[in-house]
Amino acid sequence: MRFLVIGASGFVGRNVLAHVCGLGFEAAGTQSKSHQPGLVKFDLLRDRIVDCVGKSFFEREGQVCVIICAVVSNMDQCLVDRETSHWINVEQTIQLIEDVRPFNAKILFLSTCFVFDGTLGYYNEEHPVTPVNEYARHKVEVEQYLQANVPGAFIARLEKIVNDDPGDRQFFSQWYKLLQAGQPIVCIEGSLLSPTYVKDVAQAFVLACQQNLAGVYHVSNSEFFYRDELARQFCYAVGKSPNVVSRSLESFAFPDKRALKCYLDGSKFIRATGLRFTPMSQVFRAFVQNTRGLNAST
Ligand SMILES: NC(=O)c1ccc[n+]([C@@H]2O[C@H](COP(=O)([O-])OP(=O)(O)OC[C@H]3O[C@@H](n4cnc5c(N)ncnc54)[C@H](OP(=O)(O)O)[C@@H]3O)[C@@H](O)[C@H]2O)c1
Repeated sequence: MRFLVIGASGFVGRNVLAHVCGLGFEAAGTQSKSHQPGLVKFDLLRDRIVDCVGKSFFEREGQVCVIICAVVSNMDQCLVDRETSHWINVEQTIQLIEDVRPFNAKILFLSTCFVFDGTLGYYNEEHPVTPVNEYARHKVEVEQYLQANVPGAFIARLEKIVNDDPGDRQFFSQWYKLLQAGQPIVCIEGSLLSPTYVKDVAQAFVLACQQNLAGVYHVSNSEFFYRDELARQFCYAVGKSPNVVSRSLESFAFPDKRALKCYLDGSKFIRATGLRFTPMSQVFRAFVQNTRGLNAST
């Protein structure tokens, strides 16, 4: 088995690539606008993947697993520049899928909990999708394409992904910076989420490939928190006094709609693989240890 991570310069892709390389698998990763050493240049807007990675990567013996992390991930940008974002997130993502299908590549597509409208929460895979914003509608379009045309594809719906690395651009490191600067963590009131450790997500993808899982799976930690409660727990864990403010969703005046309670029921995936998701208390502890390492080296 070998891996191709599309969008390996982004938060999830970078961690997935590092994980599979750490396990000793052969792997390649792509970037579009970034300039990170060791990644292949591939822009969904103008490139074809086989030209960029080379035919031999796909033709050699063994299963190729293509993990699609590339996306226009800014929800409001998807609305503001609908044409380009739809072209990247839907049309050209489908083109990419079609380009690797002749090589019998296993497709892993990263989708989102925002395919649900967030009025109920704790959604399972059987629940009908009801996206409320442009970004989520893009995800639903690709999901439906895969379900209709690529029965072997693995569709991973993900919730908020977090890491224990304060140097990574992610939820907890952003909170930590705010606290250090004496600024409050501002949360959407009533927002419920299941923060999921990025290394668990990476491990989940390897298991999905090894077991050749197909169809829609919620790859999500079973713990869930109100966003402001998680922020207070985080403050406590990093030894800072809680500086957390909750405001109504309406007061943020986001250009596009947001769903409030999209946390997922991940039991189908857990039953299939036996993966034990890392509790947030453990992620917090590792985060604190890593900040000590960071402070010592600066
Ligand atoms: N992070 C989360 O909490 C979360 C939660 C739910 C679902 N997800 C899903 O997980 C996936 C990865 O998310 P992420 O947080 O890692 O996103 P991210 O950090 O914004 O990374 C996006 C990646 O997409 C690449 N990309 C953007 N435009 C491209 C283009 N035109 N051609 C080729 N590549 C392009 C970027 O490359 P350059 O930067 O080099 O341009 C980058 O590598 C997404 O599908 C997202 O929907 C993430």
